[in-house]
Amino acid sequence: MGAVGLGCMPMSWAYSSSQQRGERSLRTVHSALDAGSSLLDTADMYGPFTNELLLGRVLKERRADAFVSTKAGLLVGDQHIVANGRPGYVKRACDASLRRLQTDVIDLYQLHRADPEVPVEETWGAMAELVGAGKVRALGMCAVGARASRRSGGDLYAGTIRQLERMQQVFPVSTVQAELSVWSPQALERLLPWCEARGVGFLAATPLGNGFLTGTLTPGQGFEPDDVRARHPRFTAEMMAANQPVVAGLRRVAARHGGGVTPAQVALAWVLAQGRHVVPVPGTKRPEWAVENAGAWKLELTAYDLAEIAALPPARGSWD
Ligand SMILES: NC(=O)c1ccc[n+]([C@@H]2O[C@H](COP(=O)([O-])OP(=O)(O)OC[C@H]3O[C@@H](n4cnc5c(N)ncnc54)[C@H](OP(=O)(O)O)[C@@H]3O)[C@@H](O)[C@H]2O)c1
Repeated sequence: MGAVGLGCMPMSWAYSSSQQRGERSLRTVHSALDAGSSLLDTADMYGPFTNELLLGRVLKERRADAFVSTKAGLLVGDQHIVANGRPGYVKRACDASLRRLQTDVIDLYQLHRADPEVPVEETWGAMAELVGAGKVRALGMCAVGARASRRSGGDLYAGTIRQLERMQQVFPVSTVQAELSVWSPQALERLLPWCEARGVGFLAATPLGNGFLTGTLTPGQGFEPDDVRARHPRFTAEMMAANQPVVAGLRRVAARHGGGVTPAQVALAWVLAQGRHVVPVPGTKRPEWAVENAGAWKLELTAYDLAEIAALPPARGSWD
């Protein structure tokens, strides 16, 4: 599996729908695979469903090149997104994902969110049965956002870790997916060490800070209403301006390496430097960015680079 994955979400979800183009997205997936990003991260709710359908068109032709990672457990309704962790539902969702992805096995099946109405052991047990049935190779848990963890009391990710420990009693957790980037390093404190100590892989979601860390966004540029950044506290003109020192730091490190290294690659190399068990899944719908991101593994940050990044001012604006 390549060191850097491809997050497929922006092709059909969370970012301006006016920018989403099917044919370009298909080329993006092919380019990522050609460049060595074999882990393709999707979810049934991206679209909903269209992201998996898109990937299915690629997988039909080149299943052997890809490591397919999808998710279940969130339903998109008219007004709200709701969790559904009922065993029967999760099993049906898996069959539907297999059909859309045009494959007979999912490499990594992740629980997108635990359902507060269903004991997580029941959901996880049903997912374990999918492994037994040969439909899924391994199971992962998503812990994106810290709010849920805070609500359940204690430190950041304390609730997540308690939940993971309950799940481990039922069936091994192979991966945890949570946000990790230069400007959202919170998972480093407890979640990453928890994973490392147990041989659990870590999928770093949103490793480019929703694009901010690439240095291609301009304070005050505005976002379309269906783009998550239109409501994200760090993407107001004021906060984007206030956080420019973070981008400036990544630019300095990139410039020192020369050879066309970009701030995006520095941001991804920083994530890679957090442990051998960490795989960043940068999201893009553009072939050229997929190739650029895939190349980040070649960039080895020095101790000086890492110290400079560690000394950058903490991000302004609420994280979640
Ligand atoms: N489990 C979960 O609940 C969860 C939640 C969030 C994210 N994720 C996963 O994490 C993945 C990544 O997260 P994300 O997409 O939200 O955030 P991200 O990877 O931090 O940033 C994506 C944004 O950066 C832009 N971009 C990507 N590469 C670039 C480059 N080299 N230069 C300039 N801009 C670049 C993209 O633009 P374009 O879109 O225009 O290409 C997009 O706007 C998702 O695809 C998904 O797989 C999972």
